[in-house]
Amino acid sequence: MDLKKLKIEAEKEIKKAKNLKNLNKVFKKYLGKKGEIAKVFNSLKKLSEAKRKKLGKEANLVKAEIEKMIRKKSKELREKARKVRLKKERIDVTRPGKKVEIGHLHPLTLVQREVLEIFQSMGFSVVLGPDIETEWYNFDALNIPKDHPARDFWDTFWLKPETQKSKVKTQKLLRTHTSPVQIRYMEKHNPPLRIIVPGRCFRHEATDISHDIQFYQLEGLVVDKNISAANFRAIIEEFLKRFFKIKIEIRLRPSFFPFTEPSFEIDVRRGKGKWVEMMGAGMVHPNVFKFSRLNPKNWQGFAFGIGLDRLAMLRYKINDIRLFYSGDLRFLKQF
Ligand code: PHE
Repeated sequence: MDLKKLKIEAEKEIKKAKNLKNLNKVFKKYLGKKGEIAKVFNSLKKLSEAKRKKLGKEANLVKAEIEKMIRKKSKELREKARKVRLKKERIDVTRPGKKVEIGHLHPLTLVQREVLEIFQSMGFSVVLGPDIETEWYNFDALNIPKDHPARDFWDTFWLKPETQKSKVKTQKLLRTHTSPVQIRYMEKHNPPLRIIVPGRCFRHEATDISHDIQFYQLEGLVVDKNISAANFRAIIEEFLKRFFKIKIEIRLRPSFFPFTEPSFEIDVRRGKGKWVEMMGAGMVHPNVFKFSRLNPKNWQGFAFGIGLDRLAMLRYKINDIRLFYSGDLRFLKQF
């Protein structure tokens, strides 16, 4: 083939090459071992010396030129490929990240924290007691003797009896209220006392919209020389005012608990809503002081047990206590 034509053809094909693979083919076609230039060199053998020299020189020149063009094109193509890759691999650090789902506090935890804070600001200390109780602390020491009909107020989950070393069978229970912590605390501390006890309680009864087999109570106990029911009313009104931050009404009804005398029940309502039973309360019964090894002649006090679930229901306008324990995310995500 004519060398001039060869060069023009090669130039065209090099220009057309879209990527390195194409360019490589062009390289092989012209500069490869069996390529066009090689063919020209092979044909030189048949020529006379003068012609061979001339043509050989020309062929070498064309070969060099094609090589140069290919190298240049190759550089261009590599640069182009690099740009494409960089564009594809580009990371926009300003784009919003993937959101990680994190948990949040349960509405009862929120309410409990708020309530504790209010009482702490009024000088109460937070005290805890065990969920698994003995019959003594949950009942007897609270002036609720065995076979007394009042025990039926607290339907109880009993645990399997344990046989102890002495072969005496003792039966533990899930505490039915937080009142046993009154005894536990008074056994170990001398008045004046001012404590609150948040805790989970359990009752073996049918559930409905305002009762569940588990719930949270907040026990309160204040003991000093001259404590009266008026002090109780003032403290509880102050607490409810701070908690609800809106005007609410409260109502004290006479009631009965074996561990307080007199006893009352406190109902609360917001606006024109329904009255909701919120807590039991009363003046600490002399027998309770005795069982705690305090002299009832020296001390007076009041105690109360607030239903934390009920507080949360009023706060968030929830109409079924069982939602708190349902684990239903549609419910929980609202808080
Ligand atoms: N422990 C009582 C209950 O669970 C509530 C209460 C506490 C009543 C303290 C009086 C004093 O129903």
